[in-house]
Amino acid sequence: MVIAPGRINLIGEHTDYNEGFVLPAAVDREIVFAVAPSNTDQFNCYSIDFEEVFSFRANELKSGGQWYNYLMGVVSGFQQRGLPLSGVDCVIGGNIPTGSGMSSSAALCSGFGFAINAIFKSNLSRLDLARIGQQAEHEFAGVRCGIMDQYASLFGQKDSALLLDCRSLTHEYVPVNFPGVQILLVDTKVKHTLASSAYNDRRAACEEGVKAFQKINSGIHSLRDVDTDNLSTLQKLVSTDVFTKCKFVVEEIDRTQRAATFLKLNDVKEFGRLMFETHWGLSHFYEVSCPESDLLVTLAEEFPKDVLGARQMGGGFGGCIIHLIRNEAVEKYSLKVREKYVVTFKKEPDFYSVALKEGVHLN
Ligand code: GLA
Repeated sequence: MVIAPGRINLIGEHTDYNEGFVLPAAVDREIVFAVAPSNTDQFNCYSIDFEEVFSFRANELKSGGQWYNYLMGVVSGFQQRGLPLSGVDCVIGGNIPTGSGMSSSAALCSGFGFAINAIFKSNLSRLDLARIGQQAEHEFAGVRCGIMDQYASLFGQKDSALLLDCRSLTHEYVPVNFPGVQILLVDTKVKHTLASSAYNDRRAACEEGVKAFQKINSGIHSLRDVDTDNLSTLQKLVSTDVFTKCKFVVEEIDRTQRAATFLKLNDVKEFGRLMFETHWGLSHFYEVSCPESDLLVTLAEEFPKDVLGARQMGGGFGGCIIHLIRNEAVEKYSLKVREKYVVTFKKEPDFYSVALKEGVHLN
């Protein structure tokens, strides 16, 4: 069996597609695959969670938003690399909540790619598989995502986060060791239907900023090349909206590097402070938050002794809020949050305590 974990991201949001830094980790929420050659040209797949069978051939791949479209995207990635595949029988099940910002789709692609890579001896590296997963998301789901999610699912390490440089595509493991503090996710249960088009719009705004900069400095390749001191130059070149988006990204790249230093020093207070900063940047400037996420982060700020940091995680518009919280406060805090959230939004949030785990592997 192949196990493919979901991921959290401690900090570094919307920086991956700008060649910046991110600090994600694989977690103990996962998708499990049982896969064997079908000895035909058919890919016969069964999803336990969707209670659905879907069969396809490698010459009839199509895009769409269903779980099997991602599998087709992975098959297409192998084909585009000239790698011959025949069919498989595959059963898939898992416990990563979908649409919660924990990258269930990246786990789906990473795990399926890993399985067929092993079965057909295609000899692809983990980085190749991450690229195939990202490409599947672009070409088969229409989201022009970065590579963070697939990379974290494939390269995760127990008890560590990955400081990933999205320009060089190399990483350093940083142990997450905040004594007495755990990672708690609070799921807003908000699934924004326009999230993927808004995501692509944000990416387009960043690209517009880079293009404008390139007219005066051809050495600029991405927002990674812009530092906080050059921002005033950019302000004169683009609309206020594009500027505000680019400014957030440039600052977030810088913040992520500072946060990594605090993580290495086990300085949970400073690390957490930067998480809050990221959240309000995502909300006010990058404009990818929502009232539910903002309420949860505001509540977190009301418990400064217990909650060291909190912010919305992932692409945005809901999903999970990641918290760094003192162990002894979890129960009391969860009760308070649930109560307030239900009164305000008439729906229940979910709570997941997560541990950091190794990336995609055989079991
Ligand atoms: C989604 C994308 C990632 C990344 C985050 C935002 O999870 O899949 O590539 O851009 O949003 O940081």
